[in-house]
Amino acid sequence: DKIVLAYSGGLDTSIILKWLQETYGCEVVTFTADLGQGEELEPARAKAAMLGVKDIRIVDLREEFVRDFVFPMLRANTLYEGQYLLGSSIARPLIAKHLVAIARQIGADAVAHGSTGKGNDQVRFELAVNALDPSIKVIALWRQWNIRSRMQLLEYAEMHRIPVPKDKRGEAPFSMDANLLHTSTEGKILEDPAEVAPEYIYQRTVDPVDAPDTPETATIGFENGDPVSVNGKAMTPAALLTELNSFGGRHGVGRLDLVENRFIGMKSRGVYETPGGTILLAAHRGIESITLDRAAAHLKDEIMPRYAELIYNGFWFSPERDMLQALIDRSQDFVSGEVTVRLYKGSATVISRTSPCSLYSADLVTFEESAIAYDHHDAEGFIKLNGLRLRSWAARNGR
Ligand code: ARG
Ligand code: SIN
Repeated sequence: DKIVLAYSGGLDTSIILKWLQETYGCEVVTFTADLGQGEELEPARAKAAMLGVKDIRIVDLREEFVRDFVFPMLRANTLYEGQYLLGSSIARPLIAKHLVAIARQIGADAVAHGSTGKGNDQVRFELAVNALDPSIKVIALWRQWNIRSRMQLLEYAEMHRIPVPKDKRGEAPFSMDANLLHTSTEGKILEDPAEVAPEYIYQRTVDPVDAPDTPETATIGFENGDPVSVNGKAMTPAALLTELNSFGGRHGVGRLDLVENRFIGMKSRGVYETPGGTILLAAHRGIESITLDRAAAHLKDEIMPRYAELIYNGFWFSPERDMLQALIDRSQDFVSGEVTVRLYKGSATVISRTSPCSLYSADLVTFEESAIAYDHHDAEGFIKLNGLRLRSWAARNGR
């Protein structure tokens, strides 16, 4: 028998690998996704090899991640609880998809992950596996072994001579998750929401206070709702997000310190850095502002929180997400053009938009005299009828 383990090369999954081999006595195949986490993946290979893994798979999923997961999500201007750009949530279904594909390919009947029994990620991995292949079992180590805390985890590592990574300050690391869209940091001192997040936890953005005094602009080209170029240069999805991450990173754009509601039921505090995603959200709203009809735009905004919640809760692969996606995608037919965003000390501000499919009419809106047939008198009846029920209501209240 074989098990496919989602393996990051980090402490938790290395210990899990050891534990799986010892407990199940079966072959463990490791799968490491390159999602642009910004760390070398060769050490993960070396570590897996050292732990006796024969079949080590490291796959570059950066383009698939951005093209098929991040961009479709951005089409909806998706934010969970008004602020979170879902950087971890959106990566889970992709990892699950590849775990399932490898399991099928090598005839494994189980996949394993290293998410804790308290978080969202376990739910996301497992719901995705359920939706993709109900015959595959999921082994969730944190729910099976007797290790109950990070402290005990470190003891187990020491006992089995598994090297414990240290952060820059020589301490055990935070609980982190990184990919091309974001870096997320949780745990340790952040578990007290009253504690101000120390500056050293930030990985990919400068403190806005230290950002350059000179602003920079990025002009982003869109086609059918997806970004395709930066400053006139056409780019693949992953290259484009990488480029905007460096723009955003050097100007301190996209930091978020958030207390959120986990699906499981508790509140948790995390710090996020989503530089490129934050720029893209502003830019996408900018291009939609001139290309979307009002009712279409408002309908999208109404369903957005629902769609965000589906992704957050792990229902990427579900009939209802498919349906909402079809609606969102359909809305993007004319969302093409260019938006210029100014980056300055933590902010990403839209300063210009143009589109060959614009609905904006200067002739119509102008305060100056205009050739377009707009009869001011029409507004009189419009207001009169809209005010009808308000006049009845006010008269009744005044009685
Ligand atoms: N709370 C975030 C989410 O549920 C991030 C989870 C993973 N991050 C981490 N630091 N372990 O999407
Ligand atoms: C974890 O529990 O493994 C990370 C946090 C989460 O999934 O919410």
